[in-house]
Amino acid sequence: MKNLENKVVVLTGAASGIGRATALAFAKQGARLHLVDIDGPGLEPVLAEVGSTATAHVVDCSQSDAMLRLAADVYDEDGRTDVLINNAGVCCGGPVEKISLEDWRWITAVNYWGVVNGVHAFVPRMIEQGGGHIVNTASMAGLVGLPYVAPYCATKFAVVGLSEALSVELAFHDIHVTVICPGAVRTGVMQNARLALPGEWRDRLISGLDKRAADPDKIARKILNAVKRRRSFVIIGGEMRPLWMLRSLSVGLYQSVARYFTTRALRKSGQRP
Ligand SMILES: NC(=O)c1ccc[n+]([C@@H]2O[C@H](COP(=O)([O-])OP(=O)(O)OC[C@H]3O[C@@H](n4cnc5c(N)ncnc54)[C@H](O)[C@@H]3O)[C@@H](O)[C@H]2O)c1
Repeated sequence: MKNLENKVVVLTGAASGIGRATALAFAKQGARLHLVDIDGPGLEPVLAEVGSTATAHVVDCSQSDAMLRLAADVYDEDGRTDVLINNAGVCCGGPVEKISLEDWRWITAVNYWGVVNGVHAFVPRMIEQGGGHIVNTASMAGLVGLPYVAPYCATKFAVVGLSEALSVELAFHDIHVTVICPGAVRTGVMQNARLALPGEWRDRLISGLDKRAADPDKIARKILNAVKRRRSFVIIGGEMRPLWMLRSLSVGLYQSVARYFTTRALRKSGQRP
C-alpha cells in the first residue's frame, strides 16, 4: 500500500509509546486514523497532536464485544479499514513460581486475546471489502525464550505464530499480515509492568533496558515501511538479534548459552551460590 493518503487505519495502544509514534507517522502520510486505547485521558494529547483526521475510541482490546463494537463504529463512520494495527500490550514477569494466575490471565487477555479479538472483529469485513493489511506487534521475546518474562514470551510467541499462519492464509483474500518484533524500546511498558521482582531488581532491569532501548519513532518508521512494502516479518532486534540467530541455528545451543549467562548474572548479584 504505497500511498496512505485517506487510508483508514485502526491502531490499538495508541495512547503511548510505539502506538503514539505510529499514529503520528501515519498521520503525516495523510491517513485517516482511529486511535484505540483503554486509557481515555492518555488518548487526548495524541488526538490533539494527530489533528482532525482522527477519531478516538476508549476500548479494552481484551474484550471481544468491545472490539466488535469498535469495528462496527469504524465501518459506520468510514465504510472500510485499510490497515489494522494490533499494537496494545502489557508486560508481566518475575520468577515463574511467584507469578499469580491473575497476572497470567491479564497478560494473555491483552497481548494474545487482544490480537485475536482484532482479527476476529475486522477480518470478515476486510475479506468482504476485498483486502487490507494487518500489523501485529510482537517482540524479540516472541522469537527467543527469555528468563523471568515467561508470560510475556508465551504471549508474544503466540502472536508470532498467529501472524505467520494468517500471513499465508489471508494472502488469498489480498490481506497482508506483518508481525513486528522489536527489542527494547523506550516506552511506558516497563513502568506499567507487573513484575514479581524485588524493588532493587526491578529498578535495575528497567534502567538496564532503558539504556539499550530504541526510540519508538524508529519502530513507527519500520511499521510504516512494512505496510508500504508489504513486509511480513520485521525484526528490529538491535543487541538481541544475535540471540535469535543463535536460536535459529540450534535451540539447544541457545538454551545452554542463555542458562550460562543467567546463572552468571544470578551469582554476581548474590542470588545463587
Ligand atoms: N517497549 C518495549 O521494549 C517493547 C519491545 C517489544 C515489543 N513491545 C510491544 O509494543 C507494544 C506497544 O507497547 P509500548 O512499548 O509502546 O508500551 P506502552 O505502555 O507505552 O503502550 C501500550 C499501550 O497499550 C495500552 N493498553 C494496555 N492494555 C490495553 C487494553 N486492554 N486495551 C487497549 N489498550 C491497552 C496502554 O494504555 C498503552 O497506551 C506492546 O504490544 C508491547 O508488548 C514493546
